[in-house]
Amino acid sequence: MKKLLFAMTTVLLMGSCSTQPGEKQETAANTTDNGQAAIENIMTRTSIRQYKDQPVEQEKIDIMLKAAMAAPTAVNLQPWHFIVINDKNTIKLLSGQQPTNAPLMIAVCGDTDKTTMPDGKGKLPDFWVQDVSAATENLLLAAHAQGLGAVWTGVYPVMERVAEVANVLNCPNNIIPLAVVRIGYPDESPEPKDKFKQENISYNKFGGKME
Ligand SMILES: Cc1cc2nc3c(=O)[nH]c(=O)nc-3n(C[C@H](O)[C@H](O)[C@H](O)COP(=O)(O)O)c2cc1C
Repeated sequence: MKKLLFAMTTVLLMGSCSTQPGEKQETAANTTDNGQAAIENIMTRTSIRQYKDQPVEQEKIDIMLKAAMAAPTAVNLQPWHFIVINDKNTIKLLSGQQPTNAPLMIAVCGDTDKTTMPDGKGKLPDFWVQDVSAATENLLLAAHAQGLGAVWTGVYPVMERVAEVANVLNCPNNIIPLAVVRIGYPDESPEPKDKFKQENISYNKFGGKME
C-alpha cells in the first residue's frame, strides 16, 4: 500500500511539475482513485524522529523541493529559500538541544527581500510566515509520499534560535529560518495521531451547529 501511495503521489508531483502553460493540469480529483491516494498520504503522515543510516537520493530531495515551492503564497511572491544540509557536522551544529541521527535537513527560510508588493507600493505584512509554513507542510507530505520520514523542528519566531540557525547557515539578514526539517528513511513506525475533533468545528458562526 505504502509503495502504491509513493508511486501515485510521485506521478502526481512530477506530472504537475511538467505541466506546460495552457495545458490542462492533472489533479488528484481527476485521477481514477478520486483523490484517495493524496488524502491517504495526508492522513498517514506523522512525525518521524529516528532514521536509518541511509542517505536520501537527490531525486527525492528534488521532489520535496518542488512540492514545497508548489505551496500557495500571498500575491504569488514566493518569499522563500531552502537550504539543503547533508554535511554531518552542520547537522550536528543545527541539532541544538535535540540531537538527531537524521542524514538530511532542509532549513525552510523566509526571504524578506521578496515581500515587496508587485506594484512597488511597500512591503506585504508578515504573510511570508504563512507562505513558508505552507511550503514546510508540502515538504513533509512529499517526504512521506516517497517513503521518507520527517519532522518539523521550530525555529521562527524564537529569535535566539533564528540567530543560532542563521549563524550556522551563514544566512544574510533577509533570510530568516522558519523551520529545520529533519529527513531520512524511518527507523520507527509510530501510529499517526488522530487529531480530528468535532468540537473544533463550527458552522456559519462560532459555536454554530450543522443545519
Ligand atoms: C511549528 C512546529 C514546531 C515543531 N517543533 C518541533 C521540535 O522542535 N521538535 C520536535 O521533535 N517536533 C517538533 N514539531 C513536531 C510536533 O511535535 C508534531 O507535529 C506534533 O506532535 C504532532 O505530531 P505529528 O506530526 O506526528 O502529527 C513541531 C511542529 C510544528 C508545527
